[in-house]
Amino acid sequence: MTAEHYFSARPRAPHRPGRVRVILPDVHLDLATDAGVFSPGRLDPGTRLLLDAAPPPPASGALLDLGCGYGPIACVLAARSPGAAVWALDVNTRALALCARNAAAAGLANVRCVTPGDRAIPAQLAGIWSNPPVRVGKQALHQLLSAWLDRLAPGARAYLVAARNLGADSLHRWLAGQGWPVTRLAARSGYRLLQVDFSAERAVVTPP
Ligand SMILES: C[S@@+](CC[C@H](N)C(=O)[O-])C[C@H]1O[C@@H](n2cnc3c(N)ncnc32)[C@H](O)[C@@H]1O
Repeated sequence: MTAEHYFSARPRAPHRPGRVRVILPDVHLDLATDAGVFSPGRLDPGTRLLLDAAPPPPASGALLDLGCGYGPIACVLAARSPGAAVWALDVNTRALALCARNAAAAGLANVRCVTPGDRAIPAQLAGIWSNPPVRVGKQALHQLLSAWLDRLAPGARAYLVAARNLGADSLHRWLAGQGWPVTRLAARSGYRLLQVDFSAERAVVTPP
């Protein structure tokens, strides 16, 4: 699949239904995928690193999966924190429909699939998990991340995974330069998992 397609609002690729199994020590899922969404043939290794190495999500509050695709992160968060509301956000309507279907099939009633303009998304987030769309370009990616990271509640954290050859280390430096405390939590097979903490410094400059 060409890179331009996975973040199309309405992919035109002919449907090609597939399945991806997500087997973690605590969660087993069998998810539907399709052409026109990100990594439809296998669980992306970056996503796998995030699911393996990020700490357990908070038990309650609004958790955001920024760029949910067919839903592997959103569904695992929802299974790990049944008392939380998981907001699964994407611009790709085919991906969102798959995410909703996957959550329903797994009995995860706490997943809400939304597009970016949805006003129901809470202003303050208890955490963000993302394999972000780096291929949208650096400027668009930075705007996207700034907008959502500034919605972290005081004390909340984000977990972002990115490939080193797609700019994970420069993303790390950019985030730190913008005032977010950033820690590299894990690295595997060319992927970096970054923990981004709520920034009190930014909250003073950009209040909600
Ligand atoms: C790298 S993929 C990750 C998908 C999924 N979370 C996974 O791990 O398989 C990034 C996702 O971000 C979505 N995306 C692109 N631009 C976006 C935006 N402005 N807001 C929300 N999601 C966006 C893409 O459509 C894509 O599904």
